[in-house]
Amino acid sequence: MLLKESKIIVTGGPTREWFDPVRYISNASSGKMGIALADEAYKISENTIFIHGPINENLVKDKPYECRKIETTADLLEAVLNEIEENSVLIMCAAPADYTPIEKSDEKIKKQDGDVILHMKRTPDILKNVADTKKCRRLNNFFVTGFAAETMNTESYAMSKLAAKDLDMICLNDVSQPGAGFNVDTNVITIFTRSGLKIELPILTKERAASEILKQIDAELLKRGD
Ligand code: PMT
Repeated sequence: MLLKESKIIVTGGPTREWFDPVRYISNASSGKMGIALADEAYKISENTIFIHGPINENLVKDKPYECRKIETTADLLEAVLNEIEENSVLIMCAAPADYTPIEKSDEKIKKQDGDVILHMKRTPDILKNVADTKKCRRLNNFFVTGFAAETMNTESYAMSKLAAKDLDMICLNDVSQPGAGFNVDTNVITIFTRSGLKIELPILTKERAASEILKQIDAELLKRGD
C-alpha cells in the first residue's frame, strides 16, 4: 500500500453540541492543522477528502479536494465510518466535543437567578469505533493516525491513546506550549508510531508540521510493504 495510491481522509476543526437553539458546547479548534494536513495530502494523492466541523468557510472555499462539513461528534462518526475502506489512510486531527447535553431544549433556556447545571453524556469515541469497524470489515490495508491534545503527562497519555485506540501512529500535541495547538499558525508535534519510533519535531508552521507527519505516514506504509 502506497500513500500516493491511497484515499486520504483528514478530519479537522471542532464539533458543536447544542443544548438550546442558540447555545452549544465546543472548543477553540480553528481547523488550520487539519487544512494543512489535507493540503499536503492532496499534493501526494488527489483522492483526499477533508471532513470538518464548523470553521471559517473562507479557509476551505477554494480547495481542490472535497471538503465536507459536519456539525456534531455523532455526525463526524457517521461521515468517517462512511469513508473508510481498503487502501485508505485516516488522519484524525479534529477536536470532537467529548460530551453532549443529555437534553436539547426546543426553546432558548431563559436566564434565572442562581447557578445552572447542565447534564451531559459522553459522545461516541470515533477512533474506537473506527478500530472496531476495521476488525469487523477486516480492513488490512488501512492506516490510522490520531492526535493527542494534552497539557500534562503528555507522553504517557499519548502512548495510552496509541494503544487504546489501536492506532498506527499518534501526533502528540502539547497544547500548553507557546505556539502550539488550538487556533495558532504553528505547532509543536511529537510523533509516536506503533513500530516504536519517537520523532520530536521543533516548532514549525502547521504546513511544515503537516508535511513531516505525511512523510512519516509514507515511511510507515513503505515499511509495511503490503
Ligand atoms: O484546529 P487547530 O486550531 O489548528 O488546532 C489543532 C488541534 C490542536 C485541534 C490538533 O492539532 C489536535 O491536537 N487535534 C486533536 C484534538 C483532540 O480531540 O485530542 P484528544 O486528545 O481529545 O483526542 C485524541 C484523539 O481521539 C484525536 O485524534 C481525536 O480526533 C480523537 N477523538 C476525540 C474525541 C472523540 N469523541 N472521538 C475521537 O476519535
